[in-house]
Amino acid sequence: MKRSHRILCVDDEDFNLDLLEALLRPHGYETLTALNGREALAVLAEKPVDLVLLDINMPVMNGHELCKKIKSDPQLSHIPVIMITSLDSKENKMKGMEAGAEEFLSKPFDQAEMLLRVGNILRSAEYEGAFEYLILALARAAEANDIDTGNHIMRVGEYAGLMARELNQSEKFTELIRSQATLHDVGKVHIPSHILKKAGRLTPEEMEEMKKHTTFGAMIIGDHPHLEFGKRIALCHHERWDGTGYPNGLKGTEIPLEARITSICDCYDALRNSRVYKPNYDHDGAVGIITKGDDRMKPEHFDPEVMAAFIKLTPRFDELYRKMRDGDKS
Ligand SMILES: [Fe+2]
Repeated sequence: MKRSHRILCVDDEDFNLDLLEALLRPHGYETLTALNGREALAVLAEKPVDLVLLDINMPVMNGHELCKKIKSDPQLSHIPVIMITSLDSKENKMKGMEAGAEEFLSKPFDQAEMLLRVGNILRSAEYEGAFEYLILALARAAEANDIDTGNHIMRVGEYAGLMARELNQSEKFTELIRSQATLHDVGKVHIPSHILKKAGRLTPEEMEEMKKHTTFGAMIIGDHPHLEFGKRIALCHHERWDGTGYPNGLKGTEIPLEARITSICDCYDALRNSRVYKPNYDHDGAVGIITKGDDRMKPEHFDPEVMAAFIKLTPRFDELYRKMRDGDKS
């Protein structure tokens, strides 16, 4: 049986928490409570939660800070947040939106309106969850034709999210790249496996065939507006800053930023994995090749700003690689 939705209510006043629980429980929601941001994070680390109802003014860690923390944590960012505030000021709302909150309710709230919003937001979060799941299922389907790449696609998504944040991109951009960079090689489903699994370097003809995984990827993803990001990444993740990449030889900022970011993440992870045609490198080895180059890779292949962010984040890349080396990311 499907478990009931679990809602975490965060407020520094017991009275308010009692009120929320009394309102939500009769409607089949399971409730958890926390008196401040720090307590809430401890609860979130312990149990899966479907929605957070958040007071703004709290000691220890206020609602805006907590919301920011939730939205910047890859394990938690999918959880919708509703902010409740007695101060119905524009400034508070703006701050909440900046922190990534999905909805706002002002105190004293209308009970019927609140239940309606909770129901709506949970429903749309479920659709979104199913959408994310399907993106990953599609990416995995393509990977099945490739050599065993373990968690490569998931790691590339996670590194790309880190990079987007370091490059001061919006939460929306960060979320999209984290989720859709996993689709970068989806076009490999069309590449014969004797090419994908070949030990040793590819012949020029085989290389031409291999290059088509970019255009096949874009074709498979198609034109749905919610997947534009993934489409651009699949098409352009082998373009190079100096114009020597494929399939279109784009140069510099002609290459979409999401593809420039994914490219360096993909290269780092590919270097760390051993494949039939090459040995693996340790962290320092992989970073050395990206930053100094070898017979195939050159630092000029990468956007200098993206490279600078990568250099800053290398310890985090290593951490993520180790954490997600095998099995699940949990
Ligand atoms: Fe690729």
